[in-house]
Amino acid sequence: SSSFVIAIDGPAGTGKSTVARRVAQALHAGYLDTGAMYRIVTLAVLRAGVDPVDDAAVAAVLPALTFESPTTADRQEHVLDGDRVTSEIRGSAVTLAVTPVSANPAVRSFLLDRQRRLARSGRMVVEGRDIGTVVVPDADLKIYLTADATERARRRHRQNAALVGAGTGEVGLDLAAVATDLHRRDSKDSSRTHAPLQAAADAVVVDSSELAVEETVARVLALAADRG
Ligand code: C5P
Repeated sequence: SSSFVIAIDGPAGTGKSTVARRVAQALHAGYLDTGAMYRIVTLAVLRAGVDPVDDAAVAAVLPALTFESPTTADRQEHVLDGDRVTSEIRGSAVTLAVTPVSANPAVRSFLLDRQRRLARSGRMVVEGRDIGTVVVPDADLKIYLTADATERARRRHRQNAALVGAGTGEVGLDLAAVATDLHRRDSKDSSRTHAPLQAAADAVVVDSSELAVEETVARVLALAADRG
């Protein structure tokens, strides 16, 4: 089948990943989590002992980097230099350091080629911050998923608790700390020079504050059916 891309962008804690994965499953499409790619690079930077805010030193880590990015919604296994890092990339060390690493223009152009290649490999749901604006500006459908800040913090806090409960999370933050961290990341992501978080002019803005996951998924699928 020919290429059909749904771009899903938005700030952290909107349920973006869950929605994107379920939409991909419902459409039998592939799924690409670009945030995970920024997290992998960040983990490589930390493992190399490089200061995440040192742009030149971070850029120097890139050429030797080998990692795999899964493109299926069902099994998301992330591998860095042969090592499974699926839980580690969600931990607090990476979550803190991913902000300066993803603002680094060398990192963005390094990942951009790979993201574009994977995004255009067929029917894909691609999620991130700059998919509709930069990575796939001609996407067939662009969704900008939002939710109010209190609700996003509650969702992310619940998700962290589930990770810790499953023995895979290290983010033992209380609700107020989660809210502070989301605010820190979103304001930095929105104000950076290169590919800031913003809705594409032709994106459909979906506010999920009052919607259950299934309702948000249904809304995206209805929009996709219109475009398909
Ligand atoms: O989606 P997730 O929260 O895992 O993304 C982690 C971080 O990666 C974001 O806070 C942002 O700084 C960066 N990111 C980005 N561009 C993307 C996806 C993620 O800059 N397309």
